[in-house]
Amino acid sequence: MKRFIGEKLPVLRRLQTAVIANIAASSIDEYCAVLSALEEAEGVHGYEINVSCPNVKEGGLSFGTSCEMTAEITRRLRSLTAKTIIIKLTPNVAHISEFARVAADAGADALSVINTLIGMAVDADKREPKLSTVTGGLSGPAIKPVALAKVFEAAGAVSIPVIGIGGIMSAEDAVEFLLVGATAVQVGTANFIDPAAGTKIVADLDRYCSERGIKNVTDLTGGLKASRELSVVQSWL
Ligand SMILES: Cc1cc2nc3c(=O)[nH]c(=O)nc-3n(C[C@H](O)[C@H](O)[C@H](O)COP(=O)(O)O)c2cc1C
Repeated sequence: MKRFIGEKLPVLRRLQTAVIANIAASSIDEYCAVLSALEEAEGVHGYEINVSCPNVKEGGLSFGTSCEMTAEITRRLRSLTAKTIIIKLTPNVAHISEFARVAADAGADALSVINTLIGMAVDADKREPKLSTVTGGLSGPAIKPVALAKVFEAAGAVSIPVIGIGGIMSAEDAVEFLLVGATAVQVGTANFIDPAAGTKIVADLDRYCSERGIKNVTDLTGGLKASRELSVVQSWL
């Protein structure tokens, strides 16, 4: 934290953009301590709270798989700041809409949907897991269909903005997230393949919109031609 404030933040402060700090922690007190330290520092415009972290006190189960914990973290952090709080939800739950609602009710300004899915890779010859942690976070194009469904479900449950993330590699992918209800998108894994992925997606999104006479990219939000009721019923079958 000291190194982030002393070394990284001065560099980030010089950029002509909003800086959102993503906070991970292993206890609610630790989330609060990190946010409070950042409140003292200059140059952070808002916080994205990664609730997919293991809750050390409760035996390592992710905070974000408990509605009560998600609400409690959001409430505690809300009382510490007037800046934007984005709660980043895990997809590793049955009904993400329940988590979206409790976070919104507890004071979140927006939600990020989704974090990584739990995945596993196995070396068949050695009969060993390939990851030292046995399971790990699955990201990238493989998770896009899951992410779209989760954004659709979360956006249908709350009136605060939902930021779509999960496997976005192109402007068309971003458009899909906007259509299912996202107000904005984030690009993660694509940056590891091409650090300029974000800027390219923004430029391509601009072109996508002008070619189709779409004045503002936000006009795409929620524009999916589908009966939400029908889709939700189908998802239960
Ligand atoms: C190497 C790696 C590191 C990540 N670190 C974080 C993190 O520190 N905090 C967080 O909230 N999500 C983290 N994520 C999750 C991503 O931000 C994102 O939610 C997820 O990977 C899905 O999006 P993507 O397919 O565009 O990567 C990480 C993902 C990867 C692959």
